[in-house]
Amino acid sequence: MMNKYNIEDISQQISEKGFVKIENIYDFSEYRFLNHTKKKGLLSYPINLKQKFIKLLKLDLQKIFQSNKLIKLSDELAFDKICNLYFKKKSQLRMIDSYYSEKSESPIIDWHNDLALPPRLMQKKYNNQMKYIKNTLTNTSGPARGLKFFIYLSDVQINNGSLAIIPYSHQVVQTCSYLMLEKKIPICPFWSLKEFRDMLKNNETKKMMAEKLGKEKLELFISQSEFINHKQADTNDFDIEMKKGGVIIFDELCFHRGSAPQKNSRLVLRYLFKKKN
Ligand SMILES: [Fe+2]
Repeated sequence: MMNKYNIEDISQQISEKGFVKIENIYDFSEYRFLNHTKKKGLLSYPINLKQKFIKLLKLDLQKIFQSNKLIKLSDELAFDKICNLYFKKKSQLRMIDSYYSEKSESPIIDWHNDLALPPRLMQKKYNNQMKYIKNTLTNTSGPARGLKFFIYLSDVQINNGSLAIIPYSHQVVQTCSYLMLEKKIPICPFWSLKEFRDMLKNNETKKMMAEKLGKEKLELFISQSEFINHKQADTNDFDIEMKKGGVIIFDELCFHRGSAPQKNSRLVLRYLFKKKN
């Protein structure tokens, strides 16, 4: 059964810390079809008319039916309303997929944030980089800031598929993006935590960041992310353990990573909502 939760509260918590964890939001026993991904890794569901039409042409009616069921579920769980409140703007569902990871010793993904300027754009023209940063912040077109909803369909623990998020880091990345947009600091890639920390080695950049974000918040981030310079370049300090049926909602600008599913495979149902154009 779904927990009743207060969406104002949830939106407030994400604004402050960058994420929220809610246990036991739904009983997924009726959603056995999601386990099909075990053979396929990542499985996307059609969410708009065009995508559904393509499935129709392929006579994959089952996928359309399953997708409708998942969309209805996100309505029941008020994911769109949480996003509307968070961005104070109308939001839009942009992606549903289920993500299966085999048992492994390697991390699912290393420390990064989802929307920062990727290295591939650094080779292109300056204008494209600016456009990317602008879109991230203002959503004029293309990539824009959103909220991710990770629903766990298997239990995760530290060193076993857990997601880790550095609290308050969304504010740091946002500030940095604005400073680049305002041309107050040089543009450089900052997708990975390592790149982001390297950027802060520039004293002028650090000074501008401290002014805009606040010295205390910047210092907190610097100490929280110090681990990336150590030998292992990882920490368990920010891991979020979760039982099947719980959700983590987070701002894509947060620095996060997925730990190695060392003991058992991991299955996650993911929704992405973004600010509407
Ligand atoms: Fe990510």
